[in-house]
Formats: sequence, structure tokens, C-alpha cells
Amino acid sequence: GQRRGTTIPIAADQAQPQREAPSTLDQCRRCDLWQHATQAVGGVGPKRARLMLVGEQPGDQEDLAGAPFVGPAGQLLDRMMLDAGLDRQEVYLTNAVKHFKWEPRGKLRLHKTPAQREVEACRYWLDQELAHAQPDVVVALGSTALKAVLGNSSVTLKDHVGTPIRHDGRWVVTVYHPSYVLRVPDEAAKAQARAVIVDGLKLAQRLVN
Ligand code: URA
Repeated sequence: GQRRGTTIPIAADQAQPQREAPSTLDQCRRCDLWQHATQAVGGVGPKRARLMLVGEQPGDQEDLAGAPFVGPAGQLLDRMMLDAGLDRQEVYLTNAVKHFKWEPRGKLRLHKTPAQREVEACRYWLDQELAHAQPDVVVALGSTALKAVLGNSSVTLKDHVGTPIRHDGRWVVTVYHPSYVLRVPDEAAKAQARAVIVDGLKLAQRLVN
């Protein structure tokens, strides 16, 4: 079954008033995105994981379910992980930003790209996840994830796609975001974008340990 998202407690002696340092992700007020989200969505996966996949932020369905990568992009990611020979149960899955940022469009909640300050505020939680799971390899899914993982808001996807780099003592492999594959209208380009992700996942697997 679906594992629950992890909440990441900090030690009681570090606890401070809530606006300063929330003790759990649920209570996070480090930026304003919580105001319009249903709930925070933390990562899921084993306590220790050699491989961590980082997306952008929960989407509409993840926001409602409280778990990452359960909607259309997540289902595509599942198939691509299968194609790459990865076992989802062994991989730690999370996002750069833990609350869904959206704008209304009729009855729909349309995804909005998080601002740099929101990515930076949420890096606190990604750091906790990295410290706990201690992955050897991190796969950045798309530009927001890449910026979050490298802690550099001026890096671009095209400079890094497919080429692993060493960062903070681990490998970082950059691929497109699965939603990009869903959006590409042209079938050949779609297949190519999908292949870049699957190849990146295979590369990440080879770089483990
Ligand atoms: N897209 C993401 O980046 N993360 C999710 O959890 C779902 C969709």
C-alpha cells in the first residue's frame, strides 16, 4: 500500500515559537504557500535510501492525498521507473517545495511555479530529508528541483540534463520533469523527452554506491 509521508521532527531543545521554527512540516509557516494548500506533502520512502528523486511541488492530487507523485505525473514516473528497472519502494520520493502552489482557472487549480524565496524557504525540509535518507544519488526532476538541490537559482536545466555532477558529496543527475513529457505535443519530441528521463534514472541507478 501507499506509505505515509514522513514528518520530520526537530529536537525539543531546538523548538522555538512557531513562526520562527515549526516543529513539524504540517505546521510550517516558513513561506505563505500553506495558506492555500490542503496540507503539506512530505517525502515518502525508506528511512535510508541510496536514491532520492526530487520533483517540484505537490500537484492537485498530491495536495488532496497528502502523498507525492500520485497524480498523472506520478503515474508516468512510475512507468518510467519500471522501464529503468527501479523499484519505487526502494527510492525516496520528494519535492523541492512541500505545499501546492496554484491559481484558480474555472473549477481547476492550475499549478504555479514556486518563487525562488519559496524554494529557498523549503530547502530547510529538503535538507532534513537528505540528512535522514542519506542518498548517494539525487535525481533532480526539472528546473525547480535542480535549483533547490544545488542551492543555486541561476542554474539551467539544459546545462545539466544527462550529465551527472558531484555536489555535497553525492551525485546529482538532472532530467526533465515528468509533466514536461505530458505537455510536449509532438509525439517524437515526447518520446525523446521520456527517453531522457528513463536514461537518467538508469544512470542514477548505476551511480548508486
Ligand atoms: N509533480 C511534482 O513535481 N511532484 C509531485 O509530487 C507531483 C507532481
